[in-house]
Amino acid sequence: MWRFQNPVEIISGHGALNTLQELVKGRAYSIVTYSNDIFSQYSAEVIDALGHSPVSIIDGVVENPHFENLTELCYELGQQTQATEVFIALGGGSVMDTTKVLAASCGDFALVEKFLKSQIEPEQLSFKEIIAIPTTAGTGSEVTHWGTVWDPKNDAKYSLSDERLYPRAAIVHAPFTAKLPLPITVSTGLDALSHALESLWNKNRNPVSAMFAVNASKAIIEILPQLVQEPTNLALRTKMQEAALMAGLAFSNTKTSIAHNMSYAVTLEKGIAHGIACSFTLPAIIRAVDHDDVELIEYIKDIFGSSIELAGQKMEQFLMSLDVAISPRDYGYSDEKWQELVSKAALGQRGQNFSGCVETLLSKF
Ligand SMILES: NC(=O)c1ccc[n+]([C@@H]2O[C@H](COP(=O)([O-])OP(=O)(O)OC[C@H]3O[C@@H](n4cnc5c(N)ncnc54)[C@H](O)[C@@H]3O)[C@@H](O)[C@H]2O)c1
Ligand SMILES: [Fe+2]
Repeated sequence: MWRFQNPVEIISGHGALNTLQELVKGRAYSIVTYSNDIFSQYSAEVIDALGHSPVSIIDGVVENPHFENLTELCYELGQQTQATEVFIALGGGSVMDTTKVLAASCGDFALVEKFLKSQIEPEQLSFKEIIAIPTTAGTGSEVTHWGTVWDPKNDAKYSLSDERLYPRAAIVHAPFTAKLPLPITVSTGLDALSHALESLWNKNRNPVSAMFAVNASKAIIEILPQLVQEPTNLALRTKMQEAALMAGLAFSNTKTSIAHNMSYAVTLEKGIAHGIACSFTLPAIIRAVDHDDVELIEYIKDIFGSSIELAGQKMEQFLMSLDVAISPRDYGYSDEKWQELVSKAALGQRGQNFSGCVETLLSKF
């Protein structure tokens, strides 16, 4: 038996931003975003599309949202004189995940922290509605019901997860990605590719998630190099956002797998961007997938347009063409430390979703 479910309404293309009015329906809303000039301008465009002012603009989001920053932002929310009914997440994964925390917090991060540490039951939390406007083409957080919360002081990473965290709608508005710097375009695009592939070598894979994953992977492999050449091409930006969203739909039902479990340690220990940390290991993983899984092998052959034997090499060439190093040594790991990291990741929650052989994987680095 298998099941696929995703309740997020997806709105893409010309005029997508104008649907905000019918979604917000005159309710009290807050915009959550980063604090810089580009995003002040994008916030102004959102307010213009809505035709009425927000209760607040919470613009103190930082990259990889962590306990300290989230405590401050939840406090800021708690101090508002008028309550927020709808949150508009305007930004990349860090903004969307911060918004998920805010939407669950009732203005007090301590409540969310207790939930993350399994000290309270889900019923003790209530959730506000979220509308996501992603400005990177990467995380897929606009169609998932979880958010990543970091606790770097304790070398820890949590996943805030609850079905009530699915955004009400995801709005794909490519002009908001036109100024995304090239290195972030590449790293976030690779994050999306990793989501798609990770949902395939995954014990939770089903035919619908696989359909999204194969389409997303093929699109990203085709479009990302073109986008590097033409970063202001809005048609390419739209295709990239739609591909990242499809990857999001795929892993919204499977969760990720071993590349992600390995990446968390790499990001915490070496400060490597999430999209690079979760993709430089993909060639080795492709070489270690379960060859008896005939469907999986067909999916991989389809994506890379090659035999399964050559797919790992093709993935390697793709990463190298984007200037991404593929050896753990390039990220400061000795062979011994790396083997330790992989073995530990295989036992992690995401690592256990891997349908291939960990022993084989260890031999492929
Ligand atoms: N919830 C999920 O399902 C999920 C999945 C994968 C990753 N994540 C998390 O998402 C976070 C990463 O998110 P991200 O990769 O989207 O990056 P991000 O949100 O951290 O943003 C990276 C940088 O890009 C800038 N930026 C974003 N959009 C821009 C734009 N359009 N123009 C100019 N600058 C822009 C931001 O200001 C920031 O400095 C990590 O914390 C990761 O753990 C969550
Ligand atoms: Fe990711």
